[in-house]
Amino acid sequence: MLVFAHRGASGYAPENTLAAIKKAVELGVTAIEIDVHNVEGELFVFHDRRLDGKSSGTGLIEEVSQTYLASLTVDGEPIPKLWDLLVYLQDFDCLLNIELKGMKSLQPFLNLYPQILTQLNFTPEKLLISSFNHHFIKAVKQQYPQTLVAPLLEGIPVDDAAIVSHVNAYSLHLSLSFITAELVVDAHRRGAKVYVYTVDNPQDIHYLMGLGVDGIFSNYPDLIQQIIDSDQ
Ligand code: G3P
Ligand code: MG
Repeated sequence: MLVFAHRGASGYAPENTLAAIKKAVELGVTAIEIDVHNVEGELFVFHDRRLDGKSSGTGLIEEVSQTYLASLTVDGEPIPKLWDLLVYLQDFDCLLNIELKGMKSLQPFLNLYPQILTQLNFTPEKLLISSFNHHFIKAVKQQYPQTLVAPLLEGIPVDDAAIVSHVNAYSLHLSLSFITAELVVDAHRRGAKVYVYTVDNPQDIHYLMGLGVDGIFSNYPDLIQQIIDSDQ
């Protein structure tokens, strides 16, 4: 079972910051998930569409300037550029799941992807691109067929895991609140792995292991890994 550090090791450090990524690496995780938004044409790592609440700023993240963003913090940590996290992570043997958030993150990602592969120590197998926006996933796969892509779902579609075949997905990312045995079986039948978010509770881990999922996203990846290991 693969365990992703969700938004970095966000149970221990401010989510989606370099500190959370460093903590995840320190814990020895083999996979990390982060969320990205477009700010003036460049991807920044932040979860919410609004800056209010989680950061020291206000407003819609897609509408602020990079200068303003640079003046903000998340619990004392800067809001990082995706590129800066990639530079840090490139030398670790770790799968990075980049979740494309918002309505404008597709084009900057398409622009950046070739640079990631040519200027940094990343191969396509080390990057997994996911989104709730399945048009984004489809476009990424069409432009760069070697990319690993994953549709996110929060619900139970009437056509089960058909989206896997539509976008030629490497994995299907399901909500813990909306998962059925049929969805898992159908995703596997279509050749995709099943990863489930966000799982921090031991009982939920056992339930998901029973369903045969391939991985989970957790804010406490080390604790979850211990539970998985003790069951094997
Ligand atoms: O990518 C898994 C999970 O992060 C999706 O939901 O809202 O936490 O980004 P969210
Ligand atoms: Mg996410």
